[in-house]
Amino acid sequence: MVFLVVVICIIIIDNLYLNKLINMTKSKTENKAGLMDKIVSLCKRRGFIFPGSEIYGGLANSWDYGPVGVELKNNIKQLWWKRFVQNRDDIVGIDSALIMNPKVWEASGHLKNFSDALIECKNCHHRFRADSLTMNGGRYVCTDCNGRDFTEAKDFNLMLKTFLGPSDDASNIVYFRPETAQGMFVDFKNVLDTSRKAVPFGIAQIGKAFRNEITPGNFIFRTREFEQMEIEYFIREENWKKEFENWRKEMWNWMENDLGLNKKHIHELEVPDDKRAHYSKRTIDFEYDFPFDTDELYGLAYRTDFDLKNHYKEPPYKDPQTGEELWPHVIEPTWGVDRSVLVVLAEAYNEEETRVVLKLSPKLAPYKVAVFPLLANKPELVKTAKSIYDDLKNQFMTAWDDRGNIGKRYYAQDEIGTPFCVTIDFESLEDKKVTVRDRDSMKQKRVPIKELIGYFKEQLENYV
Ligand code: GAP
Repeated sequence: MVFLVVVICIIIIDNLYLNKLINMTKSKTENKAGLMDKIVSLCKRRGFIFPGSEIYGGLANSWDYGPVGVELKNNIKQLWWKRFVQNRDDIVGIDSALIMNPKVWEASGHLKNFSDALIECKNCHHRFRADSLTMNGGRYVCTDCNGRDFTEAKDFNLMLKTFLGPSDDASNIVYFRPETAQGMFVDFKNVLDTSRKAVPFGIAQIGKAFRNEITPGNFIFRTREFEQMEIEYFIREENWKKEFENWRKEMWNWMENDLGLNKKHIHELEVPDDKRAHYSKRTIDFEYDFPFDTDELYGLAYRTDFDLKNHYKEPPYKDPQTGEELWPHVIEPTWGVDRSVLVVLAEAYNEEETRVVLKLSPKLAPYKVAVFPLLANKPELVKTAKSIYDDLKNQFMTAWDDRGNIGKRYYAQDEIGTPFCVTIDFESLEDKKVTVRDRDSMKQKRVPIKELIGYFKEQLENYV
């Protein structure tokens, strides 16, 4: 009898705990999901990001960057390139093919190891990445139906296959690259021979990568087609700890100073042995408090000489001073472009009493300035405004808007994060000055037309 009561109590407590856990997860998700929904809606409404193939009913988890989204994304990529390629003597860029010889993926270990453990709920038959589910009492819990009965975990390879050539037989199978990294290993010798770099030096690349993800989702956070910015930094083995620390600092610099992220939202995760990619001896994930949950934003890995040793038979590097042949080791900092866009949007999104405003750093803002004639049906205003617009757009990404009233135009520019708006009114025709309105303070100021370019150059440089 006592035994029976104890068993019943355990079941009740277990279920209470389970419900609490589910409710906690739900309320956390719901609170933050509100912000996520607002970001997704703003992105669609203002032309940042649209659902892919929308007129055909869409394609699950595929997204298209619209007119302002592509500007934001390009600004992030250009800032990265400037910081890590243009401003450094020790890093050169490449742009390698998306589809490579399949032997690359055999050698890199991706065909064998690049997989996720997949489990299926026996009740609702949904499939999950095993590591995406919560354990309760040593068992997985299905987030869809609360079922606890799962199939054994099976490895599911994430490489996206296609065929190259006129027939689709096995000999024509090729793979879309799952990381940009391999292009840099395979081109290592060509880069070395043509750029005359010496260890330590890096190769950088920005480009698309493809993965047949089991659980894509959360908007542009996890998709099957995405973009990466990666650096393979070649070093001497004995220096790996020092170089790893250097790159760790560089990544913090990027997040705090270039993207302007709040460091309280970023957490380092030392990835344990059993969770690291097959090539890595040490990995740190930089996790971010996304609106849906805390998850990986970027990664930093010590790839050792794993990749070069798998691609080359002989050491591909000779010390230019001593002639010593060696296998360079690799530190790899890696950044997701789409996740960068998402965090920038999440940090910039602000709701104020009268408006929604994206407080984007001007370096990242799609447009730096917007130009409005006070009234669209007064040719003299439109003519002056157009000539100011033509001058400005030659210097900065500049928007033109002559629809609706000024209030609506401000509202629209605030929602896409334009730092300055310029209005040309009747007084401008007389005093040759225009009204410049600051996005964040909403303060207005009269500035002489002939000083506008200089004024914006100075303001944009000083803008934090
Ligand atoms: N070359 C190493 C590498 O690819 P990773 O951690 O698998 O490492 C690097 O990917 C970065 O690419 C991640 O930190 C993330 O920012 C981004 N990323 C990875 N998978 C992604 C996906 N399915 N959708 C969007 N971004 C992704």
